[in-house]
Amino acid sequence: MSIPFFSIDLTLRDYGSLIFNILNPFNKKKLEQEIKEKLSHRYPKKYISLLPSGRLGFYLSMKFLFKPNDLIIFSSMSFPLYVKIAKQLNLRVKLIDVSSKDLNIDPDKLEKIDEDCKGIVITHLFGNPCEIEKINNICLKKNLILIEDCAQSFNSKYKNLETGNFGEVGIVSTSLLKIPTTLSGGILITKNAKLHNEIEAWCNKNLNNNFIDKFKLLIKILLFILNSYPKIYSILSDKIFFFLKNYNPRVYRKILYSGMGIKSINFDPKERPKQTKFQLAIGLSQIRRCDEMNIKRKKNSQYLQKKLSLSKNIIVINDHFKEDWNHQYFVILIKDNFEKITNKIFKKGIHAMDENVWNCSNYNFEIQNIKSDFEITKSFDGKLLRIQNNSLLTLKQMDKISQILIDSSNEQ
Ligand SMILES: Cc1ncc(COP(=O)(O)O)c(C=O)c1O
Repeated sequence: MSIPFFSIDLTLRDYGSLIFNILNPFNKKKLEQEIKEKLSHRYPKKYISLLPSGRLGFYLSMKFLFKPNDLIIFSSMSFPLYVKIAKQLNLRVKLIDVSSKDLNIDPDKLEKIDEDCKGIVITHLFGNPCEIEKINNICLKKNLILIEDCAQSFNSKYKNLETGNFGEVGIVSTSLLKIPTTLSGGILITKNAKLHNEIEAWCNKNLNNNFIDKFKLLIKILLFILNSYPKIYSILSDKIFFFLKNYNPRVYRKILYSGMGIKSINFDPKERPKQTKFQLAIGLSQIRRCDEMNIKRKKNSQYLQKKLSLSKNIIVINDHFKEDWNHQYFVILIKDNFEKITNKIFKKGIHAMDENVWNCSNYNFEIQNIKSDFEITKSFDGKLLRIQNNSLLTLKQMDKISQILIDSSNEQ
């Protein structure tokens, strides 16, 4: 039996709530208020919007905060679709290389940025917070608007304050594979009342409540949930992925990374309907269980980190013994023979996500400084693999994953 790419942290109670709220879709506003109230403790004195996706929050923030031709800095390891959205809005983009310590933007390289730069997008990659204090000081000195991509960093803190509190805007993703999940959604946090009102007004005017769209989304969600269980995955999809990986890697990559902006068409801000009540109910339960899930993920990560340190060919990205972050992504660097090793573990039933999609200098985006070398980014690109980490992961599964990884690395 194969271990699939992901598992989704849902309890039996969540499934009960899912069914109950599909059958009883009334009184959604109350749930929305309850979530916002809970979030207000994490993001004090901020305005909060619950959106159909993180990407919509990003699109609207860029649209309302900047003008065409404004120059924006991104980390060279950012969410590719966000760079694409900036280009779609006719912004100019420059990339700044990351630090080898955590693959987040290197603040020391920010000192030299252009005088006419208007904003900076930082990504707390793999859940580990950027060096926000240094970045904030630069933003203050150079009068830059800071946007925090917190898609992966809910519950991660910098000096006791949660990410998302530092910038003009922070955007969390609550998509299917994120924590917390609403099975598809995002949270936008801002201190800017005008921006908040503009975003809320845009959503009220433009987002649909269409039954067919919501039904299609529900079917997609159910398919993903089923595929997150090893037994069902092994029956439904295991062989299909195996076939595609071997005989049509392009389609395989397209399916796995369909949401990452690799497609050539423009981002459509109206692509998803408003969140339904069952999504908000799951979100509320997830936010309530957040700390409990975090403790388990931390324990798992530390176990995996210890085990995998036995291989000289594997380096764990970020220290899982460090306090105060969410351990949402367990990512390793495979120094040599990445492809051979990942093919081998795939054949042995460990289906892990290749994380070689973050290098934004690698796409066909028009970037102002595309000729720069992005040395650190390139040295990691093509070597990153994500092992699922989730509070449902069992000791037996972790032993299997680490043993197969170590054996496959040693056989080279
Ligand atoms: C770093 C990062 N930024 C942004 C996003 C976009 O979030 P969403 O899928 O909710 O639009 C993701 C989602 O995968 C992400 O990982």
